[in-house]
Amino acid sequence: MPQIPPLRLGVNVDHVATLRNARGGAVPDPVRAALLVIEAGADGITAHLREDRRHIRDEDMARLKRELSRPDIAKPLNFEMAATAEMIGIALATKPHAVCVVPERRSEVTTEGGLDVVGQHLALAPFIARLNDAGIRVSLFIAADPAQIEMAARLKAPVIEIHTGAWCDAVIEGKRNKSEAEWTRIVEGAKLAQAAGLEVHAGHGLDYGTAETIAALPQIVELNIGHFMMGEAIFVGLGQTVKTMRAAMDRGRAKAGASA
Ligand code: PXP
Repeated sequence: MPQIPPLRLGVNVDHVATLRNARGGAVPDPVRAALLVIEAGADGITAHLREDRRHIRDEDMARLKRELSRPDIAKPLNFEMAATAEMIGIALATKPHAVCVVPERRSEVTTEGGLDVVGQHLALAPFIARLNDAGIRVSLFIAADPAQIEMAARLKAPVIEIHTGAWCDAVIEGKRNKSEAEWTRIVEGAKLAQAAGLEVHAGHGLDYGTAETIAALPQIVELNIGHFMMGEAIFVGLGQTVKTMRAAMDRGRAKAGASA
């Protein structure tokens, strides 16, 4: 029976910073949240430094990197950012474990849609090369489209993160045909990406149910989840949310093993 790799949970702490910034003070602290979710069993922390600094700020990234690098913690920081000269400068100075390149539009509420690596391959190529040379693992946040996946592999990005937003929205809205079509796209995309030598992650809009479902895909080795978990934490606490999410992922992963 083929070996099913473990499935990592990366928790996005942007929304803790959003709440802090609503009052302009120092609390709640996204770094405290990061340490708490690691303590509760998360495998890594994701944070998105946006051009407008609407949630995470430069000093948060520096503190996240410092705290997660402590020998008693030693967990990866996944730095989400747009492909801009400013952000690559910050990434090269911060040296996170990983960078996830995302599209960014100033007016959007969250990251809408995947990165168009086909349309932007000329601009992305040197960007990816510089991060690869610096030993920072690059991931491209893309839709599970064959052309985008093939271009990600050609650009020598070692990882893609499949944008699960359209699938999750369709599931929540009960749009059966749409959710089935999006699911098929994800399943086929994950297989294609693995065959192209890419490591496959997934994220956006996941909740306990969709995380359990997608955990059954053996090609996917990491889920990055933020908004739903921070919302749940209001009701049951962050530590309990991480544990419940982990249990959902483990149930899903067990199905991957059964069907392999
Ligand atoms: N992965 C990436 C690349 C993202 O941009 C986001 C949103 O910041 C997430 C995962 C997490 O999405 P959500 O907050 O909807 O769980």
